[in-house]
This record gives sequence, structure tokens and C-alpha cells, in this order.
Amino acid sequence: MTPADPALETPLTRAFGLRLPVVAGGLMWLAEAGYTAAAARAGVLPFLTAASFPDPAELRAEIRRCREAAGPHAFGVNVSMLPKLVPGERTEEVFRLIVEEGVRVVETSGRNPEPFLPILKDAGVTVIHKVPSVRYAVKAQSVGVDMVSIVGAECGGHPGMDLVGSMVNLALAEERLEIPFLIGGGIGSGTQIVAALAAGASGVVIGTRFLVADEVPAHDGYKAALAAANERDTALTMQSVRNTIRTLKNETTETVARLERETPDIGIEALMPHVSGKIGRAAYESGDTSKGMLSAGQALGLTHRAAPLAEIVAELETQALTALRRLRPEAPRAGALSGAA
Ligand SMILES: Cc1cc2nc3c(=O)[nH]c(=O)nc-3n(C[C@H](O)[C@H](O)[C@H](O)COP(=O)(O)O)c2cc1C
Repeated sequence: MTPADPALETPLTRAFGLRLPVVAGGLMWLAEAGYTAAAARAGVLPFLTAASFPDPAELRAEIRRCREAAGPHAFGVNVSMLPKLVPGERTEEVFRLIVEEGVRVVETSGRNPEPFLPILKDAGVTVIHKVPSVRYAVKAQSVGVDMVSIVGAECGGHPGMDLVGSMVNLALAEERLEIPFLIGGGIGSGTQIVAALAAGASGVVIGTRFLVADEVPAHDGYKAALAAANERDTALTMQSVRNTIRTLKNETTETVARLERETPDIGIEALMPHVSGKIGRAAYESGDTSKGMLSAGQALGLTHRAAPLAEIVAELETQALTALRRLRPEAPRAGALSGAA
């Protein structure tokens, strides 16, 4: 595939034959073979999430399922290197498995990927390391990753402790980086893709906007709740344990915020009964979003209804093409005086 307009071609679209310069970032419990393959077929670069498959045999089988369903379209594997999710030993095993399975690209996150780069580089795997702010991107560049994704404060999931917004990250990245970079956090419209490219990015990373895709393996009630929510319906919690997370506002975020307010040094053990991933996973299955830490970002304001992934990608493309037309001098601008006779 190639983009509909040459202005949307970037090192990312060229390397992976994409329709749009868009990465569909790893989604814990949700980015399995069905969703990942659908996103690959729709023309973006998706990442199957390794941490959702703690058993290596299961991960291997899921990669194979995904390859079969994706056909010739590229996909990668996301490896979140949080020690809690994937202990050190296991991380190396996961990377070796990825190499054995012939995966061409990984999205790493959570901590410095340097110890694992030789395994990946020797096999020719492209490493896109995801960080919450530009200072970490500079570090990642210095250890030799191929690309960085900078996912700012607006994002669903973990925006880090700095909470720098995506517009600021965008301009800082151009100033401070030499390797190709992607911008994420609050991206839900194709117009933002064009803005990112204009500022020097090679593409964007999207999580939240894709959560309502038909192919996401979650209950329709969950998707309806996300579609009904707006950009003010997320909460930031867990700053007290230095693991800030942006999730859908619900009973759990209210409880956790209150506990953190009342006992600033509360510690993760006391929060665990509320924030455990098991509760979130149950919400995906039941559609009851009143409890659980359900990662979602401010792009909820741009997420209006459930739809097939291919339709969401087509909508992003239409918006991007509209933005490009606006920028080209020969194109009439919406609302221009000359056209208003
Ligand atoms: C439900 C959900 C689960 C996520 N799980 C992971 C994960 O397991 N690993 C990871 O690196 N990023 C994860 N992310 C982050 C996304 O890959 C992506 O970086 C982020 O969602 C982009 O910002 P946006 O939500 O504003 O689009 C998750 C995000 C969401 C919304």
C-alpha cells in the first residue's frame, strides 16, 4: 500500500508499506491477533501485545495466527518492559522468540531497551522505542534505537511523570532528535496527522481512537461507554506511586484519587485491590465500565461511535486529505470570503 497523497509518505510508510503514517500502539489484553491483523490490513502498523500472552507457547501461536490473518501486511510485537509485567529473564526470552518468528519490527516501552538491542539488531529487527517525553527520546536515540515514539500527557495508559503535552513534544522532538520520530497522545483526527508531519514527525501513534473498533475483543457496552465519553472523562491517578495512568473516569478512579489524597505515601500494595489488571479485564468482558482502571485518553472526545477498523482508518485518511487541501494555496479555504457570495 501507499498513501493517497505523497505528502503522507514518510520513512514509516515506506518501510512498512502503509496507507497512513500511523502506528496502532500496543493495547494490553486487546491487541491480540484479530485486532492486530485487522489494523495491518487497514493500512496502519499495529503491535500485538506480548504481555497479554505470558506463556511463550501462546505468544508464538498468536504471532502465527496474526501473520496468517494479516497476509502480506506488516505488523509488529509490543514489548512493555515493566519488570512487573515482564521480568528481565522473560524479556530476553520474548525478544528471542520474536526474532525466531521473523517479526520485523518491535515497539518497546517501559524502560531502556539497550540490553536487548544486540539480539534485535543482529536479526535486522526495527526497534521503535516508546517514551513519555523528549528527554527519554534523546536517551533512546543515544543507545541506538531506529525510531522513537513520544507519547504525551493526553494519552491513554501511562503518560509518565513529566506530563508534557503532545504539541510541545512535537516541536521539541524536531529540535532535539536526528532519528525519525512519531508523536502520540491525544491523536484522534487525520488533521492532527498532517500537523505532526508538518512539524517533522514521521507519523503518529494511536491507542484510544482505535478502542471502539469492531475488531477490538471487548464487550459492546465498553465501546458504547467510550463512544459516549468526551475529552473530559478521563482521570490521572497513581502519581503517588510514580506510575501515573490516564483512564476512563469511574468509581475506581474516584476511590484511588481519594486514597492518594488522604494518604500520600499509600504505596502500591494498598492500591492493588482497586487497580489490579484483573478488574479491568473483567470490564472488557462484561461491558460494565463502572470499575477497573480502563486506560483511555483525551482522544475520547474524537471517538464518537463503534465502527470497523477499516472505516476508522478511512475517516482518518479523509480528514488528513482535507487538512492537506487547506494548506495548499490553490485550494479554496472553508469559509473563505471569496466563496461566500
Ligand atoms: C487500553 C490501552 C492499553 C494500552 N496498553 C499498552 C501496553 O500494553 N503497552 C504499551 O506500550 N502501551 C500501551 N498503551 C499505550 C498505547 O500503545 C499508545 O501509546 C497510546 O494509547 C497513545 O495515546 P492515545 O491513547 O492518546 O492514542 C495502551 C493504551 C490503551 C488506551
